[in-house]
Amino acid sequence: MAEVLVLDTKEAGAALVADHIASLVRDNPRATLGVATGSTPLPVYQALGERRAAGVDFSQASAFALDEYVGLPDGHVESYRAVIDREVTQRLGMDPERVHVPDGSQVGIESAGERYEQAMIAHGGVDIQLLGIGSTGHLGFNEPGSSFASLTRVKTLTEQTRRDNARFFASLDEVPMHCVTQGLGTILRARHLVLLAFGEGKAAAVAAAVEGPVSASMPGSAIQLHPKVTVVLDPAAASALRHRDYYRWAQDNKPDWQGI
Ligand code: F6R
Repeated sequence: MAEVLVLDTKEAGAALVADHIASLVRDNPRATLGVATGSTPLPVYQALGERRAAGVDFSQASAFALDEYVGLPDGHVESYRAVIDREVTQRLGMDPERVHVPDGSQVGIESAGERYEQAMIAHGGVDIQLLGIGSTGHLGFNEPGSSFASLTRVKTLTEQTRRDNARFFASLDEVPMHCVTQGLGTILRARHLVLLAFGEGKAAAVAAAVEGPVSASMPGSAIQLHPKVTVVLDPAAASALRHRDYYRWAQDNKPDWQGI
């Protein structure tokens, strides 16, 4: 089962995750991070930037992003390539050559998924994968109905996800219709999954993912199939969890040596 940690604020949750990643990178400077975009992981990247300023060296570490929009012009500020470059690569002083994002350009899109899978496998996989969750329950851009065995491929975004992400664009019409996303099978290969969710808007999706039936209709429930999952929430995102008192009890009585 997943370990569910409820922190008082998203900043406290982000600090916990950043401390863990910083110690991973200190122990293994060539660690591989799985990075997500969207609003949720931003406080983690900010906290990691502070760990860098305090002396943690990310220059040998690698990263693989979860997904990318299809068809945005090269260098578009909301392409996930550009977001990861701003929020992760530059902020942490990573080597751009070691930071990978699926190729969302129209030319060659048919093979973009397979190329990304090959790059991930040749690299040796992801040590720790950060995940947000969509209001539809998506992980990456695996919308409801995605196979738990799915690999990186082109998907069609739901109208709900396009509306959710319209805040990053001038209008809804500008939000791409398609994306290239790691599959749920790809995500499940990462050695440790860290699912972050903050705010009441995520409470229903979190409860369904953590405690609901394992179902392709709720892609987030795929985390229940992984042996090492940490779910980091604020109280609002945890508010619909049936067993939240137990999670708090386990958290309060956790052996010091365990870490996350
Ligand atoms: C982003 C991603 C998505 C987001 C999800 C939540 O790379 O794969 O699954 O994590 O849409 O987005 P935010 O964090 O903006 O609520």
